[in-house]
Amino acid sequence: MSTILVDIIAGARPNFMKIAPIIRAIQAREAQGGPLRYRLVHTGQHYDEKMSGDFFRQLGIPAPDVNLEVGSGTQAEQTGTIMTRYEKLLLERKPALCLVVGDVTSTMACSIAAQKLCVKVAHVEAGIRSGDWTMPEEINRMVTDAITNYFFTTSAHANRNLRGAGVGDERIFFVGNTMIDTLLSNMDRLTKPAFFDELGLRPKSYFVMTMHRPANVDSGSTFTKLLDAIIAGTRGEPVVFPVHPRTAKTMREFGALPASLKLVDPQPYLEFNYLVRHAKAVITDSGGITEETTVMGVPCMTLRDNTERPETVEIGTNDLIGTNPAALKPALDRLFEGKWKKGAIPELWDGRTSERIVAHLEKLLA
Ligand code: UD1
Repeated sequence: MSTILVDIIAGARPNFMKIAPIIRAIQAREAQGGPLRYRLVHTGQHYDEKMSGDFFRQLGIPAPDVNLEVGSGTQAEQTGTIMTRYEKLLLERKPALCLVVGDVTSTMACSIAAQKLCVKVAHVEAGIRSGDWTMPEEINRMVTDAITNYFFTTSAHANRNLRGAGVGDERIFFVGNTMIDTLLSNMDRLTKPAFFDELGLRPKSYFVMTMHRPANVDSGSTFTKLLDAIIAGTRGEPVVFPVHPRTAKTMREFGALPASLKLVDPQPYLEFNYLVRHAKAVITDSGGITEETTVMGVPCMTLRDNTERPETVEIGTNDLIGTNPAALKPALDRLFEGKWKKGAIPELWDGRTSERIVAHLEKLLA
């Protein structure tokens, strides 16, 4: 039997939990005689141990076959360098398919390089849209989906967006959420961080906050106003804040911080989700975290004016609070009064998405 090579692209932190179960599903099928083989390409967009290495180790992701070592840069610098280096790799050996996940710069850059060399592209988490063109991720989603052959989707919203853009049903595969495959398979392994007891954290009596969107953190004064509102609204309960490198840059200019704000390093996967699982609530500007809180049933407040994941609001535990600091108090009051919605789990977020993706790929590439 001849084998079929698939490139799997991973570039930045939110990609790693999405590729881990796909690789495992390919390996499981290979052991049963399946035809797919993979080449794991790390673009190097995230390169710190804390943003990358820890995730590979904890999630059992094999060492990348290739690292393009792009490193930091502007949007265009990263895009250009990834494209140039990935094109070179493609010219050395062309796979049957380039599989990209999510919406980071690496996702877009590799899909362009592949499609220009007539390598088919599959996009996992295709079709989601915030409508907000000020976010680099939205541009990445739109460009990637404009040149994707096979769309693997997480929600009915994504399916509708793609149909609306003229994508035929035969190219849309509603499979669920690979990030949730990873969460469910690691739920029993979640690990209490060393600082948990040192900080005196008690289950359901602390908050987790993450903040790294340029709109929220690149300006010190915007970020300070948000922080003040968060600290006032959380009524002295500890707010654990793993600080993303982008946010750390802004915070260097800050003076003394409130005592209830507990700054910690970016957390590895198992520690981060332990914190989330036991938190009273999460305050975030991330998209992916709203999916994890939905599955764990943890209240989540999103400090953005829009979301590409509306099912986490309509079905899950997430609420869009917006970026006006004044909106935080009423939301936190609602939480303290025990009036937060309970939420439910979206369709097909069941831990078996990667198996479905691999089954489709075997048929599509046969
Ligand atoms: C990227 C993704 C975003 C994702 C986020 C999660 C894009 C457009 N954005 O944003 O969707 O939610 O990752 O982390 O792809 N840095 C380090 N060490 C690293 C990586 C980055 O110090 O390992 C620094 C960079 O030097 C830069 C900043 O962090 O100053 C931002 O990194 P970058 O990859 O440009 O974008 P993110 O804001 O992390």
